[in-house]
Amino acid sequence: MIDLPRTVDFDGSKVILVDQRKLPEKLSFLECENVDCVADAIRSMAVRGAPAIGAAAAFGMALYAAKFKGNSNDFLKGLKAAADKLRSTRPTAYNLFWAIDRTLRSVEGSVDVDEMKLKVINEARRIAEEDVKSNRMIGKFGYKLIKEGFRVMTICNAGSLATVWYGTATAPMYRALEEGVNFEVVALETRPVLQGARITAFELSRAGIPVKLIVDGAAGYVMSHLGIDLVITGADRILADGTTFNKIGTYSLSVLAKEHGVPFYVAAPTSTFDLKSKPDDVRIELRDPKEVAFIGNKRIAPEKVEILNPAFDKTPPENITGIITEKGIIEKPLAENIENMLA
Ligand code: MRU
Repeated sequence: MIDLPRTVDFDGSKVILVDQRKLPEKLSFLECENVDCVADAIRSMAVRGAPAIGAAAAFGMALYAAKFKGNSNDFLKGLKAAADKLRSTRPTAYNLFWAIDRTLRSVEGSVDVDEMKLKVINEARRIAEEDVKSNRMIGKFGYKLIKEGFRVMTICNAGSLATVWYGTATAPMYRALEEGVNFEVVALETRPVLQGARITAFELSRAGIPVKLIVDGAAGYVMSHLGIDLVITGADRILADGTTFNKIGTYSLSVLAKEHGVPFYVAAPTSTFDLKSKPDDVRIELRDPKEVAFIGNKRIAPEKVEILNPAFDKTPPENITGIITEKGIIEKPLAENIENMLA
């Protein structure tokens, strides 16, 4: 059973984060006492995963509110500056912007500074609580897709550690485990940051779910020769037509799943849905080439070779069988059913 602490928490004066850079060697915490520290934690991926960075940013806003002393004008000025700082950390995951906007909206109509402070703190706490509840519901709706003896493939980490708790892609897995279903998971290592190897393999095996770790390039071979019954991935942003932005390699996996007739599901809370942007509007984060050029401290690429390091890719709706949300499973046609569920 899952025995991980909450990935993101707030004790009234500190934001407490599981430091994911240290996994799997050490399950340790980073404590932030100011907004800069929270922003750095998101940028450096001490905390990562769309819902987790959303909650971390919301708690960053709460931290600003909790520490503020002064009048309401200055409070609002500082709150907006904190929002801008947190927004600038990573561009792709929608939950980050959604959570910051929610905390900003929570003070609308208030003039009293103490009331505003409380509203921001309470809204941030609500965002974190709702995330856990949504993940539980994703588990409830999604676990029936996992039948006895299934082999389920996943990429990156859309697990408990990518959310406040329980995960999105892992929620159906944890629930299936609770229901006594026997299944195993094939986790892609997810170069270059290795969230699959360092985090998914860590959290699933810790929960008692059998997991086989493979290199990303082995996905096609494993799908065609060993057999995969189901793919479940997370999402960083889902558009109105179902286009899904997720960890680099997700699109390739969706193409493989289509080729081999394997159902391909995305699991995400509705806080990941961006109903306004068009596919070309979304910025795909390009990360430091050093993540590709080095493994640990060892350079593996020649000094002068050009390196491209996109952190996310875009999976078209036609490659997606369904989207598991806290409100139910969105089946095809995705655009129509997303509108029915979310509008
Ligand atoms: O770069 P990361 O580790 O933040 O990317 C994480 C992912 O791509 C996850 O699949 C996604 O955020 C969903 S997390 C529930």
